[in-house]
Amino acid sequence: MSRIVYVNGEYVPEEEAKISVFDRGFLMGDGVYEVSSILDGKLVDNDAHLARLERSLNELNMGWPCTKEELVDIQREVIRRNDVEEGAVYWQITRGAADRDFVFPKDAKPSLVMFTQARKIVDVPAAKTGMSVITVQDIRWHRRDIKTVQLLAPSLAKMEAKAAGADDAWLVEDGYVTEGSSNNAFIITQDGTIVTRKLSNDILHGITRRAVLKIAEQEGLKVEERSFTPDEAYDAAEAFITSASAFVMPVVKIDNRILGNGVPGPIASKLRELYIEMAKAEAK
Ligand code: PDD
Repeated sequence: MSRIVYVNGEYVPEEEAKISVFDRGFLMGDGVYEVSSILDGKLVDNDAHLARLERSLNELNMGWPCTKEELVDIQREVIRRNDVEEGAVYWQITRGAADRDFVFPKDAKPSLVMFTQARKIVDVPAAKTGMSVITVQDIRWHRRDIKTVQLLAPSLAKMEAKAAGADDAWLVEDGYVTEGSSNNAFIITQDGTIVTRKLSNDILHGITRRAVLKIAEQEGLKVEERSFTPDEAYDAAEAFITSASAFVMPVVKIDNRILGNGVPGPIASKLRELYIEMAKAEAK
């Protein structure tokens, strides 16, 4: 079944969607994006995703293609037109089309593209089995706090993980884990402390990360926002990742070292359950 996607003011079947070959998103990776998850046909933590989008746009001196309210209307319309109950809505804003030049164009109109991806997020096998990761070198640029469409480095990292028989990659810089290829990385120490890298330009400021840390705090769990090494991760009691597309997903193997008894641990499993409960209750 063909999806209806949104491209610069029009809703069209995906085969008919067109974007200029001069679009700077296509030529230069000059664009930003967001992914909000959909549960029961409603958007999860969407205001936070819109706020991060605004920050990404501001950091790159890029304009909005429409108002925030119009953008939300388009989100709801693509979800409605594609009848998505569970999955994600992806949207991307680029600086627009202009003759190729490293200098930003003065009068290009920002492009907006949006589409849905229907898929299960809650009831997935990996939540019961846990996932495996390998560590790879973080070769990305230094503004990972901006959610740009330049995703070749994380894509290569993920391919390296797949080639090694793992599900995903954790990226390592100067001996410390930054984050996952498309998620934030957490470990839980043997004494039950949740450890995740603190916010900086080194990582994306995950929306799910923030919600999960709030839940952890409400549950009275100890949290340390600091860097950790792969060695510390090997010795962890549990580990997990967070993202809009996976929510909280337990990690049971890191570089072929099995954590605990190789199944999702109690804290990661509980955080997943509590996050899903909250997301369902607050989706709108
Ligand atoms: N990725 N870190 C990176 C590098 C990411 O790409 C993502 C999200 C996250 C988690 O952020 P959030 O909790 O706000 O989704 C962390 C999205 C899902 C993607 O690229 O598909």
